[in-house]
Amino acid sequence: MTPFPAGLSTTWVPVALSHELRSKPLARRVADVPLVLFRGAEGVAVLKDRCPHRNYPLSGGKVENGALRCPYHGWRFDGAGRCVDVPGADKGSDISRLGAERIAAVERFGAIFIRLEGGEQAPPFAPPPLLGDPAYDHFWYTRGVWRGRAIDALENILDPFHTNFIHDGLIRDSRHRQPVKQTLAYRDDGFEVTYEQQSPDRGWMPRLLEGERKRSVGRYLAPITFQGRWESTKGLTLCATAFFVPESHDTYRPFGCWTTRKGFAPNWLKRAAIMAFVRTVAEQDRVSLEKQHATINEFGAPKFKSGPTDLVHAPLAEFYHHGVAAARPPESRSIWL
Ligand code: FES
Ligand SMILES: [Fe+2]
Repeated sequence: MTPFPAGLSTTWVPVALSHELRSKPLARRVADVPLVLFRGAEGVAVLKDRCPHRNYPLSGGKVENGALRCPYHGWRFDGAGRCVDVPGADKGSDISRLGAERIAAVERFGAIFIRLEGGEQAPPFAPPPLLGDPAYDHFWYTRGVWRGRAIDALENILDPFHTNFIHDGLIRDSRHRQPVKQTLAYRDDGFEVTYEQQSPDRGWMPRLLEGERKRSVGRYLAPITFQGRWESTKGLTLCATAFFVPESHDTYRPFGCWTTRKGFAPNWLKRAAIMAFVRTVAEQDRVSLEKQHATINEFGAPKFKSGPTDLVHAPLAEFYHHGVAAARPPESRSIWL
């Protein structure tokens, strides 16, 4: 069993998109902790999905006057987790010690982020660069729970070499490759891999969405975030921020936010153009990662041999499992993609 990544419980992670949480409570899970989300009187609220009375799941309840009512005996909890009602008790009864366990939550940029430990402060919610930046257009994409390990999904998105095969024709091409200079640079919070090449990738997606390309950068922000940036000589063309939130040891929920320059087209049109490709690309990755995971399970544990193209494997594992990696000078190499 692969442990959850180091620092996960003190990291702000997305658990739902804003539009997924309406008037009914929503059950989610992060690192094997069942959670209930609801819209309280003072905004979004997240509690552990366990009624403190007899441990009935609160997510089966109803929101009444901004407080969540447990279906079993009707106790009601406000957004801070305080018990505000015990039906049948005498009016003056002291119910102040009957609160539910509250989880720090914020709603920003169209998503709900939580932190399992540490409350709202120290450190407060800080988004990855570009996410929600008002100078750009953004849209989110999520598609349920995926089977597998979040670390394998992170390696998949950081690794360009699978794109010639799994996304043959869409991102790159299995028959034609071009020389690329790949540089890995370490940072305090992860690492960044830069790809410099003469022409854009040959697949339909880069050809239709990007035009020219100067370089692309894949960044890992430990423990569970990836950010890809594609740049032309004029600056940013596309940016994708992806969070792989472990639900259990065998499942994770990916959330992606696409960021583009404002101005040249309305956001709905850019979204339609990007999503025309991303739906298929994401499905190809989901299927591949599930097959990889099924094989790992069949043999009982992963047993990987890394080859000359597996530059990100070791630093990813170091940051993922330990939260830090030994500082090293940047490494550059020539590859074919
Ligand atoms: S178990 Fe929730 S009110 Fe009794
Ligand atoms: Fe992929």
